[in-house]
Amino acid sequence: MKKILITGGAGFIGSHVVRLFVNKYPDYQIVNLDKLTYAGNLANLSDIENKPNYSFIKGDIVDAAFVNELFSQHKFNGVIHLAAESHVDRSISNPLEFVMTNVIGTVNLLNASKAYWFQHLNNEKTPLDFRFYHVSTDEVYGTLGETGMFTETTAYDPHSPYSASKASSDHFVRAYHDTFGLDTVISNCSNNYGSYHFPEKLIPLSIYNIKNNKPIPVYGKGENIRDWLFVEDHANAIDVIFHNAKAGTTYNIGGHNEWTNIDLIRLLCKIMDEKLQRPEGESAKLITFVKDRAGHDLRYAIDSSKLKNELGWTPSLQFEEGLEKTVDWFLSHQEWLNNVTSGDYKKYYNEQYVKR
Ligand code: NAD
Ligand code: TYD
Repeated sequence: MKKILITGGAGFIGSHVVRLFVNKYPDYQIVNLDKLTYAGNLANLSDIENKPNYSFIKGDIVDAAFVNELFSQHKFNGVIHLAAESHVDRSISNPLEFVMTNVIGTVNLLNASKAYWFQHLNNEKTPLDFRFYHVSTDEVYGTLGETGMFTETTAYDPHSPYSASKASSDHFVRAYHDTFGLDTVISNCSNNYGSYHFPEKLIPLSIYNIKNNKPIPVYGKGENIRDWLFVEDHANAIDVIFHNAKAGTTYNIGGHNEWTNIDLIRLLCKIMDEKLQRPEGESAKLITFVKDRAGHDLRYAIDSSKLKNELGWTPSLQFEEGLEKTVDWFLSHQEWLNNVTSGDYKKYYNEQYVKR
């Protein structure tokens, strides 16, 4: 029996990780800790919320007393840490919020893990079966030119307040391994897409706007390149790494799937025309070039050969297939999308759940 704390489990990627672990490991107890910020939505987990091996706790990782108390109440065998502020544009408007959650919140979890781990070592004289898995991003490596890829040894060079806060948290995680001997693992993943993606990010925002005949904002000339990975492939990679990586290691996760933003949006418009039975080219008329993002990284590309060679993980889906699947999901989950865009999920679903 393992008890795993998953932070940020009500968010986009976290909800997929929670679902995978709850369904795949009925012997594990999965505890989902989430503050339910604007990005946290318990409707993302409605299909598994009544499973006996799942429980939810509303709480803020920035609150050290709360985090310490949580670790004194539960005997966790592992933490999979996804809770974060995750949107680059929001980090430009409010950097401090990113420092609080992404840096201070991570250090609070590390401190609680360390104290719990040392306490066990002192009392039991045997090492505890415990791992701290930190989910990070390829954005910590900065930006690439036209060639090259990020490997696990690429020097950190973050440019946005978001990536700077994630880079800082990665350094703290490594420091707790190197200084205190805590069993830590980090993965740095490329851009994810798929179901339950919050519609402030490029792909779900574009799907929503196309569906509703609103302009699709393309920053700058749309020439920036991202390496896209289907979110369920990311969740599977996290499962493989959590269970098999050696302590103190890092793995890059990516899809070998680079697209300029404008090519991606044109492909999306084509799929949407077909799905909505619009004349070909109709949705692309919504493309609107807008002012570029400040400090906009030009290109990300992940070399995930270490993960493939050492742990045997490869992505399962081709991008075109994954994107069509994602469009189908959004078009058949109008209620989810409408609740999220109107904010109703905050008023009804989350509050109702927390009161229960
Ligand atoms: P998200 O914004 O969809 O979800 C974040 C979750 O964290 C939300 O449920 C939110 O309520 C919760 N949260 C925020 N602040 C909290 C706090 N102080 N205490 C407790 N919970 C809090 O993010 P996501 O896109 O699912 O990303 C999850 C993780 O994966 C992040 O660490 C992010 O840096 C990383 N990541 C994301 C991507 C991507 O493409 N989205 C790629 C690589 C890595
Ligand atoms: P985003 O989904 O915000 O992810 P990230 O910034 O973490 O890579 O953005 C993906 C790319 O799309 C990025 O190059 C910025 C660009 N973008 C737009 O062109 N328009 C938009 O409305 C958004 C949200 C992003």
